[in-house]
Amino acid sequence: MAILVVGATGKTGRLLVEQLLGKNHEIRVIVRSSINLPRTVLENPNTRVVKASILDLTDEEMAEHVKDCDAVVSCLGHVPNLKGIFGKPRNLCTDATRRLCNAIEENDPPKSVKFILMNTVGIQNHDLGERRTLLERGLLTILRYTLPPHRDNETAAEHLRSVVGRENEHVEWCSVRPDSLIDAEVSQYSVEESPVTGILSGRSTSRSNVARFMTELIDDADLWNTWKFRMPVIMNS
Ligand SMILES: NC(=O)c1ccc[n+]([C@@H]2O[C@H](COP(=O)([O-])OP(=O)(O)OC[C@H]3O[C@@H](n4cnc5c(N)ncnc54)[C@H](OP(=O)(O)O)[C@@H]3O)[C@@H](O)[C@H]2O)c1
Repeated sequence: MAILVVGATGKTGRLLVEQLLGKNHEIRVIVRSSINLPRTVLENPNTRVVKASILDLTDEEMAEHVKDCDAVVSCLGHVPNLKGIFGKPRNLCTDATRRLCNAIEENDPPKSVKFILMNTVGIQNHDLGERRTLLERGLLTILRYTLPPHRDNETAAEHLRSVVGRENEHVEWCSVRPDSLIDAEVSQYSVEESPVTGILSGRSTSRSNVARFMTELIDDADLWNTWKFRMPVIMNS
């Protein structure tokens, strides 16, 4: 399969690309700099690297990069420093999601393309009427108005849910919601429809498990059919 990964130089994106290459997929990445890509990825004949800042691409270039892809994955995230959190682009994840989905639709592909968004457990799935405690609601409201990346994650997921929707002819999507990310080996993990233990339970999610789950979503048709158009919460067991 051909898969485009954006955010491939990130901590999760790198693991995802390595796992996908291990399964002999053809991987395309759009990166600002390839310096953070492992050598094994750069030297793999199945890797195609485009050096560009994703939001600087024209619509035509974007359509070219998603052409013939079976899946597109966004592991983008704001760099955790002052410029990354409060500077531009404030809508990195939302704008990339919107433009990549538009580009897929623009190409009028013969079969629908999987779009996987790496998001966070802090985002509510409004399809489910998920309940939050008073404390959680207060905290999320503060985050929404003080931290642009949180708002960006919310609007990116909402774009998939309410604009791309479930009836889209060309895009099927899944918004994956990890809890607090940690760097650890692949291990047992659970995937739930909603954050059953709340979002302040201190649960963690290994980036490698997120990469594993996203790889399986791409490879396993039954798993995809289970989670498409949903926002699975993934946590280490
Ligand atoms: N931290 C947590 O506990 C937590 C929990 C749940 C979910 N999440 C979410 O998980 C996602 C990914 O997390 P992570 O730790 O794997 O991310 P990460 O290591 O910070 O990687 C972020 C990726 O986004 C790219 N990027 C950042 N700013 C960009 C820009 N302006 N233009 C183009 N690319 C840009 C980076 O590229 P460069 O290499 O070029 O900078 C990198 O590839 C984030 O959306 C985050 O909100 C985080």
